[in-house]
Amino acid sequence: MHDVVLIPGDGIGPEVAMAVVRVFEAAEAPVRFHERHAGEGALEAYGDVLPPATLEAIREHGVALKGPCTTPVGRGFSSVNVRLRKSLDLYVAVRPIRNLPGVKTRYEGVDIVVLRENTEGLYSGIENEVTEGVVTSLKVATEKACRRFARWGFKYAQERGRKRVTAMHKANIMKLTDGMFLRCARAEYEAAALTSVTYDEMIIDAGCMKLVQDPTRFDVLLLENLYGDVISDLCAGFVGGLGVVPGANIGDDCAVFEAVHGSAPDIAGKGVANPLALLMSGVMMLNHLADTRGDAACRSTAERIKHAYDAALTDGRTTRDLGGSLSTMEFAEAVVERL
Ligand SMILES: NC(=O)c1ccc[n+]([C@@H]2O[C@H](COP(=O)([O-])OP(=O)(O)OC[C@H]3O[C@@H](n4cnc5c(N)ncnc54)[C@H](O)[C@@H]3O)[C@@H](O)[C@H]2O)c1
Repeated sequence: MHDVVLIPGDGIGPEVAMAVVRVFEAAEAPVRFHERHAGEGALEAYGDVLPPATLEAIREHGVALKGPCTTPVGRGFSSVNVRLRKSLDLYVAVRPIRNLPGVKTRYEGVDIVVLRENTEGLYSGIENEVTEGVVTSLKVATEKACRRFARWGFKYAQERGRKRVTAMHKANIMKLTDGMFLRCARAEYEAAALTSVTYDEMIIDAGCMKLVQDPTRFDVLLLENLYGDVISDLCAGFVGGLGVVPGANIGDDCAVFEAVHGSAPDIAGKGVANPLALLMSGVMMLNHLADTRGDAACRSTAERIKHAYDAALTDGRTTRDLGGSLSTMEFAEAVVERL
């Protein structure tokens, strides 16, 4: 049994988290969830969007499954997600984006992994009002963070049998920050001496155009923080939207698994959100437990859950966002029936 922190989060978070817990229990996943809180709900209950007890629990157990947390736009508290990633030094976000069986989209054969640097860039959180009517936002790049991120990315590509890593950047304009990002990526690629993985670079605006023309030409994307955030959602659109893209935030000591989507206030409380992205994140978490703790039961449970949701999708049992009519819990039950 593995002790894992569960953070339901805000908006649709508790609804999709409940659906995932239902599937995990039915699959007898070797996981014991410990519920902790973060986000708007935690602010009301504990006076802090990221209570110390939540961070302590993740540090203690090493692994968490997290629902989305709301961040007010243009006012209010700073992002829980940014704070969480920085506090635990979760320096890589991994977002696999693949077509799913039964989910028809404009593209077929998409198999992209977005790797996003998670700790710096424009998400440094350093903004200043210089004088009235003039504000600045500081983009930070450090050699240490750029190098460890790129090192992790090339290692990941090699271990997963990926063929190509593409760094997207704007080093023509941001010569120092994006320039550093590229120099570090090149240095790490050279140091890794990979024979089976190629490395190339693209200016991000042209890269976006090439992505939408033919996403099947891309493999692993190596991106600084803001570009990774934006490109993840762009790529989600290739395979059915935000309801089907999982993610992991990985550091040397801890890992937090969460969907790419946010708290979706437009559909929160209606019971219609697709729980698949968080369920897929849960499957990534089980595979991570299998990899890092050598527990074969985690791997086999991950496989069973994956086969079950693939079968549900193939049978056309989907939520509204994928053209179906199932509620969040009805989709969970459709997966449970197929376990
Ligand atoms: N990791 C996180 O916690 C995270 C990530 C992104 C955004 N956010 C926060 O979420 C809030 C809302 O952000 P947003 O509206 O820009 O993005 P969002 O991802 O919440 O929603 C974008 C669109 O996708 C739909 N959608 C998202 N997830 C879905 C699901 N599982 N099933 C069906 N449809 C789904 C929504 O209904 C909405 O139309 C903001 O406060 C933002 O800061 C949090």
